[in-house]
Amino acid sequence: MKELVIASNNKGKIKEIREMIADVNLLSLQDIGFTDEIDEPFQTFEENALVKASTIYRFCGKNVFADDSGICANALHGEPGVSSAHYSGSRHDEANLHQLLTNLHGKDDRTGYYKAVICLIWDDETYFFEGICEGTIIEESRGQGGFGYDPIFVPNGYDKTFAELPPHIKNEISHRGKAVAQMVAFIKDKLQAE
Ligand code: IMP
Repeated sequence: MKELVIASNNKGKIKEIREMIADVNLLSLQDIGFTDEIDEPFQTFEENALVKASTIYRFCGKNVFADDSGICANALHGEPGVSSAHYSGSRHDEANLHQLLTNLHGKDDRTGYYKAVICLIWDDETYFFEGICEGTIIEESRGQGGFGYDPIFVPNGYDKTFAELPPHIKNEISHRGKAVAQMVAFIKDKLQAE
């Protein structure tokens, strides 16, 4: 089976993605012995995903993908966006969620979306895949599942938050689920052509 490294240390993300990929042997950063932090200094998801994927590719030479993702509130012109993981100044999920609620306080427009961009380096070529999930950012946390901003995000077409919906539903409709599905279809094509 071909190996594929996922360039992330985020346990929530790794767990979700493992559930979506069965055709390759998915390796974590721990599995390849990479322990450094990778900076994400850029203002776009694409550039941040590329810097993560290419750093790991240089380290191990294996096929690798990185995703950069975040939540974007329309009333805040797309904030927190690329700053989602440290919006409050710390990397604490709960603090970041509360920062978003504070900044949205009193705003009429509660619409927003999650966005994920995957950068895949496969057999020395670089590819990008994107997924978006639109929804509403509610005023109080609901549910225990998921991670990050999930307790306050209700995807369009549902009345439950991502933290209340079962993981298989979140994986089907989420930004990351959509981006991963495209990447998996692409990898399957590549494997078949070999
Ligand atoms: P990244 O690791 O730089 O991609 O940061 C992603 C950050 O965006 C996470 O730490 C969360 O704060 C937020 N985020 C991205 N995807 C999700 C999701 O599916 N649920 C909840 N929060 C998410």
